[in-house]
Amino acid sequence: MTRQKIAAGNWKMHKTLTEGQGLAQEIRTMAESELMSNATLMIFPPFIHLQSIAKQMEGSNIIVGAQNMNENEQGAFTGEVSASMLTSIGVKHTLVGHSERRQYYNETNASCGAKIRTSLKHGITPVYCIGETLTEREANTHFEVVKTQLLALEGLSSEELSKCIIAYEPVWAIGTGKTASAEQANEMHIHIRSVLAALSNADCANGISILYGGSVKPDNAKSLFGMSDIDGALIGGAALQSRDFLDIAKSF
Ligand code: 13P
Repeated sequence: MTRQKIAAGNWKMHKTLTEGQGLAQEIRTMAESELMSNATLMIFPPFIHLQSIAKQMEGSNIIVGAQNMNENEQGAFTGEVSASMLTSIGVKHTLVGHSERRQYYNETNASCGAKIRTSLKHGITPVYCIGETLTEREANTHFEVVKTQLLALEGLSSEELSKCIIAYEPVWAIGTGKTASAEQANEMHIHIRSVLAALSNADCANGISILYGGSVKPDNAKSLFGMSDIDGALIGGAALQSRDFLDIAKSF
């Protein structure tokens, strides 16, 4: 089964609107002139830039997604953004449960599960972020922690599950310059795929793209992408430089 190869840039809370538009334009220009691989490019700018950057990327193959989405349809949720708000500006992808949101904004596996269900209902592809902390890895509980995070997907049909993307981001590798080795990452991706197969079936699990995130750079992308179960990357810091982002996307 050929899975979609994805290079996704999470801009986090970086870039003013003008800077963000500039970065998106550079990425588009470079991708159109250089990107010969079959990689799908995705960018996840801050909410406030979404409408303008989504418009700017129209007619390109670059997917523009949100970094978060509220699980409720609408209502008194000050500061939040709903699924229908995203689709109303043409945005059809969202990150769900990034470790920074779990850490600083109390997102839980249960709230992530609710966000995923709402997103699917609206035709939005969730990129579900999971991964263990350093303490959990040192305690040798990382496989169990990741499995529990994946249980947020329990009860989805195979058809729904096949619309999800998973991003494995060990918290200890995010923004630290410490990448999991390609073998360490792949070992976890194989585990994730087996949990997905148990939640649905092997065919469905084999079709789901599982991205690795955590200090992905142009110089380590090739070895990560060379592994059997690593289908791409969710990139933080290096996605803020158009050259680095493109070089990673060219490493498939
Ligand atoms: P870095 O690539 O900066 O480590 O960030 C990874 C990440 O959190 C992407 O979502």
